[in-house]
Amino acid sequence: MSSKDKEKWNRKYGVDKYIGGKAACDWLTSNTEVLTGNGQALDIAMGEGRNSIYLAQLGFKVTGIDISDVGVKKAQALAEEKSIELKTVVADLDQYEFDEKSFDLVICFNFLDRNLFPKIREMVSPGGLVIYETFSIDFLKYSSFKEEWVLGYGELLKEFQEYRILRYQEVDDGQKGFASIIAQKPL
Ligand SMILES: C[S@@+](CC[C@H](N)C(=O)[O-])C[C@H]1O[C@@H](n2cnc3c(N)ncnc32)[C@H](O)[C@@H]1O
Repeated sequence: MSSKDKEKWNRKYGVDKYIGGKAACDWLTSNTEVLTGNGQALDIAMGEGRNSIYLAQLGFKVTGIDISDVGVKKAQALAEEKSIELKTVVADLDQYEFDEKSFDLVICFNFLDRNLFPKIREMVSPGGLVIYETFSIDFLKYSSFKEEWVLGYGELLKEFQEYRILRYQEVDDGQKGFASIIAQKPL
């Protein structure tokens, strides 16, 4: 399953263009005021690095993980272009054991693996933030996505019910459906 994912994403990223663009996602850039700009950040399924680079520019020390070596190479090239440092790991998140258990910020955009939720909750340090955004059940109206790949209504709220919810939205804009959260782990 995961080696197929690697091939699939390597193929998609194997073009000169940054297929996800070079600019960070709106949910990050429009909520910058909650980011203190220092500490360790983890970007889960970082892709070509647009969000990692944005966080590094804000002052975070960022580690990005992705199964696609081609995507990660593009992330490193973009980091070099912007003269910033990025730690990257090419790994299959299905099997990866996280050594580092104290991130001030964990982000994940456009990727869903429900087995990671408990690990994310464990990896965030007390007072730290989780920023998560991915497709929701509304997206099934506009795509051939499978139900297992999308969030149910309120699912992120349930996963982070012990956290303080700083921001949350469920959006159906007529082309896409997605949910986004910013949640803070209690001290
Ligand atoms: C839709 S892209 C999102 C990339 C990035 N978060 C963004 O929003 O630009 C999904 C990413 O998940 C990665 N991915 C898929 N399966 C994975 C796995 N098992 N382990 C690690 N990364 C995986 C892909 O390589 C791809 O970069």
